[in-house]
Amino acid sequence: MPDPLEVRFVPLDRTPKGTVVVLVGHELAMAASGKSIDRAAGGQILKACKVGRFVGARKSALEVLSPNGVDADRVLLIGLGEAEPALDWVEIGGSVMGQLISRKAKPAAVIGETSEGPVAPADLADLALGAVLRSYSFRKFKTKPSADNDSAAAPGELTVYCRAPEEAAEAFQRRRALAEGVNLARDLVNEPANTLGPVEFAERAQRLADAGVEVEVLDMAQLEALKMQALLAVGQGSARPSRLVVMQWTGSSNRKAKPIAFVGKGVVFDTGGISMKPAKGMEDMKGDMAGAACVTGLMLALAKRKAAVNAVGIIGLVENMPSGTAMRPGDIIGSMSGQTIEVLNTDAEGRLVLADALWYVQERFKPKAIVDLATLTGAIMVALGKEHAGLFSNNDRLAGWLKEAGDATGERLWRMPMDTAYDKELDSKNADMKNIGGAYGGSITAAHFLKRFIQDTAWAHLDIAGVAMASNRTETNESWGSGFGVRLLDRLVTDHYEG
Ligand code: BES
Ligand code: MN
Ligand code: ZN
Repeated sequence: MPDPLEVRFVPLDRTPKGTVVVLVGHELAMAASGKSIDRAAGGQILKACKVGRFVGARKSALEVLSPNGVDADRVLLIGLGEAEPALDWVEIGGSVMGQLISRKAKPAAVIGETSEGPVAPADLADLALGAVLRSYSFRKFKTKPSADNDSAAAPGELTVYCRAPEEAAEAFQRRRALAEGVNLARDLVNEPANTLGPVEFAERAQRLADAGVEVEVLDMAQLEALKMQALLAVGQGSARPSRLVVMQWTGSSNRKAKPIAFVGKGVVFDTGGISMKPAKGMEDMKGDMAGAACVTGLMLALAKRKAAVNAVGIIGLVENMPSGTAMRPGDIIGSMSGQTIEVLNTDAEGRLVLADALWYVQERFKPKAIVDLATLTGAIMVALGKEHAGLFSNNDRLAGWLKEAGDATGERLWRMPMDTAYDKELDSKNADMKNIGGAYGGSITAAHFLKRFIQDTAWAHLDIAGVAMASNRTETNESWGSGFGVRLLDRLVTDHYEG
């Protein structure tokens, strides 16, 4: 893992060295500190703004190099724009870091003040979160720094000058835990399958024990004893054995309280199996474990911030390969639930993995609610593009909470329909169900397949195929693997399951 950005909060009275970021509102609205820097520089800063036609528009920036009369090497003005719509401090932190990286500015500092006065400690902590998220890059296999490897140029530390540094630092604690979770998820998604197979992934999950998570890794013999025949069928073509990992964080004051459960699809590589995928773009299928990565990152974040919740994370880790031992189209397999499945397409494998993981979590933990995440279908990208993940649920309240958490964090969800007409498409002549529906609505029939393994628990399924990998770059993410879902579900827990 690359060294994370170090953030320090210090009192406003010290003089910044290196690059100092000054936040500027609409029509050059500047805080007292910004004005005093300009005064010290003999008006050079505001003059540069005029020349550069910088007026503080949102996301705009202007730099003044080695201004006279101030200690800083560079003053970097960053526009906040108008007060409406409300400022998103995580985004601001991301764009500040983006500007610092593109200028290779280090050391770097931000003055936590606007024309409205000191920025609230929680907002500064959000800014720092955005900066940490933006400064992530996947460098594990780079033996030397390179131009496309931007955040090698990231400042190793960011100093935030502010009115109430202790409060900001305190507020930042839980955000740093969250950022660690997001960045762990990104690391796992970005890592290729040759070095991150089911066994290696399980080993990574085991490291969460250091943070106080209880981790169990179920091996082949245990999975067979549990009759997880659907999950095992997916892995049976691979030379590498399958695993199921159970992560438990017990943070509630009532240690016996029923947990909220998170279940992730962890197909470390999806060739499609015998129903093989075309070669073009197949390398992206190293990210077919993004659901599992999110669950692992989330469990780390919850533990690191000592969330007052009982949470369980379950990830099914398999590799979907074609071989002499692989499952075939037409095969009829069992499942832990006892239901039989006719596999008409071996590329519809994620749902087979989840079927057993979902059944297991209900049998063992009787959770209050279950949220599963999976890069489940290409069809969800056809429906929603890369802006929203698909949300499917049997429970309006849970769905509403998730939608709100998505809007609050920017990890947005769009609810998709579920009803028996879609479910019928899965009926099979030869077994209890088929693993695919008809030609259309593929993400919906996939969700209905999962629903057949849900008893009467509140459940939501997030199809994250469009948002978790090869996703749109944002102010807070430059990485191929976005870490989608960690912030969303941390928010869900904070708002509805803690205490
Ligand atoms: N892992 C894929 C879905 C996927 C596709 C994720 C592209 C990210 C990008 C999944 O296992 C799959 O192959 N789904 C099939 C289902 C079909 C065979 C019913 C699909 O979407 O084509
Ligand atoms: Mn597949
Ligand atoms: Zn898949």
